[in-house]
Amino acid sequence: MNTAENQLKILLEFGKVVNKTRSLNSVLKSMADYARDIINADRCSIFVYDPKSDELVSKISHNVETIRISVKKGVAGYAALSKETHIIVDAYNDYRFNPEIDKKTGYLTKSILAVPLLDNHGNTIGVFQALNKQESVFTNLDAEILLLISNYAASAIENAMLYDKLKDTQTKIINKLSSAAEFKDQDTSKHTKRVGLYSGLLADKYGLSKDEITMIELTAPMHDAGKIGIADNIILKPGKLEKDEFELMKTHAQIGYNLLYDDENDYLKVAALIALEHHEKFDGSGYPSGKKGEEISIYGRIVAIADVFDALISERAYKRAWSFDEALTYLKNESGHHFDPHLITLFLTNLDAIKTIYNDLKD
Ligand code: C2E
Ligand code: SIN
Ligand code: SIN
Ligand code: SIN
Ligand code: FE
Repeated sequence: MNTAENQLKILLEFGKVVNKTRSLNSVLKSMADYARDIINADRCSIFVYDPKSDELVSKISHNVETIRISVKKGVAGYAALSKETHIIVDAYNDYRFNPEIDKKTGYLTKSILAVPLLDNHGNTIGVFQALNKQESVFTNLDAEILLLISNYAASAIENAMLYDKLKDTQTKIINKLSSAAEFKDQDTSKHTKRVGLYSGLLADKYGLSKDEITMIELTAPMHDAGKIGIADNIILKPGKLEKDEFELMKTHAQIGYNLLYDDENDYLKVAALIALEHHEKFDGSGYPSGKKGEEISIYGRIVAIADVFDALISERAYKRAWSFDEALTYLKNESGHHFDPHLITLFLTNLDAIKTIYNDLKD
């Protein structure tokens, strides 16, 4: 049995974990674990309401796979629709109980405590459910404790939803900006997307984190955003650029940086850095700054390879498309000169994946 003191200790522990953990699933998982331990339940589940299908979908459930149940069925459904806590002491003799899930899982539900998860406006966003109080039945005190934990769960879920929406908005802005640059430079229709995918692949093989891989995949397509600031007669020139024309062209790196940089947005910070550095060379002979080796960020070093590789094998107004093997030979020859040699090794040892991107997104 849990004493009040013990319960308080668990709650305090729980508060610490919630503040430290970042991902929604791990936050919900620890909430389910703590709830189970505090109120001596056998299992806890957290359901999120999906208004499209009018179902409750389990996000976390102890020992059970994802469950979808109609919001019109069962105790969880009652809690969701009534927005009230429901305590069931004898499931199989209670009209609110829906035995379908037991049939699927082989579990024998006896007692249930179900608490609605409400957002700031009082709308149901899910249900927190505990099953089978050990050696007794759920009490009003258990309900109060679960309600307390549910408030944390509800705000974590709500934050995550807002966060997803923010990310979605950012992705849309990013795609619009990328295609604005593409629009001027008609040749590069699928170029920017491929550069994103090659870059993500290299980031993965290099060992960057999942977040960093996503970051580079989304932002590498914006590397040439600064071309918006370059005159059409240079961008669209069919032949070789004159020296002064190329000098103007080179300003697209700094223009892109100024355009994209945003102190409060991590994506746009990385996007700006990539725009700035994607023409730097490992041996220090690139532009705009002549940065050398690891002075160039890993993002810049990766996108340099993805960009040149893709530019070479594509047709441009000023050049024919090179063959895949010609482009590979170029990368090998430039290893340690234009490009980071370690990244070139990774590129060359993952040609199957490179070819898949190449074939999937042909011009
Ligand atoms: P881009 O066409 O997207 O090319 C990106 C980078 O790929 C180039 O950066 C260069 O490093 C490499 N690259 C592309 N084509 C070739 C090639 O035929 N040979 C070699 N060795 N490398 C190639 P770079 O040189 O800094 O150029 C930046 C941008 O300037 C290019 O982007 C393109 O928009 C423009 N540009 C460069 N050279 C010419 C040119 O002779 N004529 C025209 N019209 N535009 C050019
Ligand atoms: C995240 O997944 O990194 C954020 C979710 C949350 O707000 O807990
Ligand atoms: C119900 O909500 O009625 C079913 C409870 C369960 O067994 O998960
Ligand atoms: C992120 O860090 O994942 C993007 C959030 C932001 O910078 O606004
Ligand atoms: Fe460029």
